[in-house]
Amino acid sequence: MRERAAAAAMGRRSSTGAWWRLVVFTLIVSCAAVRHAGAEQTAAVASAHPLATAAGHAVLERGGNAFDAAIAVAAALAVVEPYSSGLGGGGFFLLHRAADSAQVMVDARETAPGAVAMSQYFDRDGRPIPGATVRGGTAAAIPGLPAALVHLEQRYGKLPLAVTLAPAIRLAREGFQVDSRYAQIAKMRESFLQSGVNTEVFLDRGRAPQTGYRLRQPALAATLERIARSGAAGFYEGPVAAAMVDAVNRAGGAWRAADLTGYKVIEREPVRFEYRGATITAAALPSAGGIALAQSLAMLEGFALERVGEPATDHLIVEALRRAFHDRARYLADPDFVRVPVARLVSRDYARSRAASITATKASRSDALGVVPDGLPKAESRNTTHLSIVDSAGNRVAATVTINLLFGSGVVPAGTGVLLNNEMDDFTLRADVPNAFMLKGGLANRIEPRKRPLSSMTPAFVEDDKGVLVLGAPGGSRIVSQVLLATLEYLRAPDVDLARLVAMPRYHHQYWPDHVEVEPQGFSAEWRAAMSAKGHEVVVANRRWGNMQAVFKAKRGGAAQAASDPRGAGVAGY
Ligand code: DON
Repeated sequence: MRERAAAAAMGRRSSTGAWWRLVVFTLIVSCAAVRHAGAEQTAAVASAHPLATAAGHAVLERGGNAFDAAIAVAAALAVVEPYSSGLGGGGFFLLHRAADSAQVMVDARETAPGAVAMSQYFDRDGRPIPGATVRGGTAAAIPGLPAALVHLEQRYGKLPLAVTLAPAIRLAREGFQVDSRYAQIAKMRESFLQSGVNTEVFLDRGRAPQTGYRLRQPALAATLERIARSGAAGFYEGPVAAAMVDAVNRAGGAWRAADLTGYKVIEREPVRFEYRGATITAAALPSAGGIALAQSLAMLEGFALERVGEPATDHLIVEALRRAFHDRARYLADPDFVRVPVARLVSRDYARSRAASITATKASRSDALGVVPDGLPKAESRNTTHLSIVDSAGNRVAATVTINLLFGSGVVPAGTGVLLNNEMDDFTLRADVPNAFMLKGGLANRIEPRKRPLSSMTPAFVEDDKGVLVLGAPGGSRIVSQVLLATLEYLRAPDVDLARLVAMPRYHHQYWPDHVEVEPQGFSAEWRAAMSAKGHEVVVANRRWGNMQAVFKAKRGGAAQAASDPRGAGVAGY
């Protein structure tokens, strides 16, 4: 509507002829020149792919706000990073509206289908059916991302979906050249894609494409156009919905049309807490992320910390993570299904009682904290994506979105271009069965009809005297430790060095397995020896993890900057 009104106004002006057009063109060119000449910017976009970041810029330049830009970036990521996120997945959008300082988390987490049955996941002898939660129709939960895009437009945006989805539609229809990251991931998943349902769309004549291959997704373009035209009905009703139900059920799942028409995003109060004078806002349940961050920081507040990277501090951080992940396994799940004592878990009293068993000199043992169920870890795989945006008015979005593992369930319903998620793997099948992220959980997070699986995604805002940091990352359970380390470092340093924050070497502990996992680079032999001397088992991972996207807006002057993790292919923009 608004756009049509603006277009109409432009139309009236056009009678004054070419002169106006020249003036407007000159203004646009000179504004762009100023921007590229390095003038201080007050808006910033960071995402995992330069084409998605560009989509965000384009929408901001058309007068959109951070929420419009988030729609454009999330939709573009669905096209250019199909292995990470997309219309067939879900996520969490943490929003801050400058006009009234309202903060909300749009919960677009997928839901278990209404007819889900445990017999889909266990054989007659009670053994978990290999792959049932990660591949095919039984792996896919009802997608939430399209509903989130529509909700953002209706409730928070200034521009119509026809404008905000346009960059994604163009990228899907005209294609884009795949980067080396795409080529590598497709190679890694080549046989999975060769044997999936309509997943050959991601290949070049049946093989993983080379860098530079132009990937076109016309069916996905058509689905995005339906959403632009008809809103949620373009996805959750009509031919796209029918194709999804059909494909999932042929691939062993049990979806019904009502699962799709009944899908709704939920606006939830984010987790908000103070840490040494800073205010932190982060994802609420059904993500465990905000609670784990709040618990870890509340425990750490009782100690004098030096800096991340010093073994004395890192030991304490590991101990805090160990306890936060223990509670995650014991208590956390979809709050609409299970009573979770959130207020107590994030309280200072509780933190004090949990931190009482932390000593500066010696690692605790996870099994001494409570029951550790048996079971063997499965192999793991990582993907998901994050975007961070601030606009010049001060609106903010931190959104982490996912289809879970690389290329999700491997099911693309015919004619839709939509790759369905395998988020069912984020449920707990049984206490002794870890998921792909080696997370074990309690039965609070067991599969139930229409329930949302517990997540680790931790979009967050960190506000202090310097300004506000908007951040998040992919990485499954390792998301929480990434956000924790970056938050601690941001708060410690007097100046803001975003590039360093997103690049910092990472370590992680998640209660079980009881070891500190460290990235292969960035931890010296002395560091490892110091941690081992305290009793930690240090395991060096064979590769780095995460793909953090951060933006910062200064309190004084409102200057904004962005940074993308050097581990990914992202390019942060002004
Ligand atoms: O919601 C979760 O916690 C997972 N589905 C996220 C998966 C993920 O981050 C994979 N990343 N690399």
